Amino acid sequence: MTEQITAKIEAAIADAESRLANAADAEVIEQVRIDIFGRQGLFQALGKEMKNVAPEDRPVVGKAFNVGKNKLQAMLDKANDELKAASDAATADSIDLTLPGRRAKVGRKHPVTKVTDDCVAIFRRMGFIVATGPVIETVYHNFDALNTPDDHPSRDVGDTFYFSDGRLLRTQTSPVQIRVMESQEPPVRIVAPGRCFRRDTPDATHSMNFHQIEGLYIDKDVSMADLKSILRTFARELFGGKVDIRLRPHFFPFTEPSVEFDFSCIICEGKGCGVCKHSGWLEIAGAGMVDPNVLKNVGYDPEIWSGFAFGMGIERIAMIRHRINDIRLLYENDVRFLEQF
Ligand code: DAH
Repeated sequence: MTEQITAKIEAAIADAESRLANAADAEVIEQVRIDIFGRQGLFQALGKEMKNVAPEDRPVVGKAFNVGKNKLQAMLDKANDELKAASDAATADSIDLTLPGRRAKVGRKHPVTKVTDDCVAIFRRMGFIVATGPVIETVYHNFDALNTPDDHPSRDVGDTFYFSDGRLLRTQTSPVQIRVMESQEPPVRIVAPGRCFRRDTPDATHSMNFHQIEGLYIDKDVSMADLKSILRTFARELFGGKVDIRLRPHFFPFTEPSVEFDFSCIICEGKGCGVCKHSGWLEIAGAGMVDPNVLKNVGYDPEIWSGFAFGMGIERIAMIRHRINDIRLLYENDVRFLEQF
């Protein structure tokens, strides 16, 4: 009888030891306590067995009983204390009230959006209003009405994305000119920012998807001098007062004469640097006097009305402004890049 009871106490101690060693939470500890000290636990059962112990053995068994009880109680207390200390330490780690608050990250405008907004704001101040047109265009609006010859290379399926129904993803914002003139009588003074698509192989300066801003000014007696002064004002508003402009003869189907507009390099102020390829000039816009054929296509009388048009790449301006050397950075949406603007 004596051996049995002491053996049971020893077994309970060993069992509790191993369970408490892995006790990750209070529930485990509590279950050990119930198994030992609960109403149906070990010591209740042993208490009953004590009645069967011979009177002369009782002092020995009673001592083993009490020693075992104290030892198990101490083990449970220790396990509880350790658990509490661990959870206190974890709380102390996660909440440090002396730390400064975390600054919330504020979103900002994408450089392409910012340049678009800035350009639009400048033209608005000069009396232009914003017009828009569809991104999925008809061949008529994107090419035919803009006086583009049937064999013009830009119509090629290798250059333009066509849909099976014959429509296309607009390759330029110029079709907005046609849509505006079709829908209203002259005079016209609009800018049309928007997305364009071309079947280009992406590289540092080409993207299949890019943005342009188009301008159209139709009135009586409009001349090349008006075009020049509008674009010079635009250049100085956008890049600062020192910027100069120059026009070079060029060809576009929808303007006659046609020009390319250069801004003096804003980086080196015209002295020559890597950004302007040591020419001192940056190619910014295509422009010209609206071809009489375009006016006829929309039902305007070219004997009465004349005007100028221009179009420029938004990404190109953003790249110059921020000295971005690869257009693809503008489309990767890498936060580390975008955060800089
Ligand atoms: N649409 C032309 C392009 O994508 C740019 C352009 C040139 C627009 C001359 C015009 C213009 O309105 O007059 O290359």
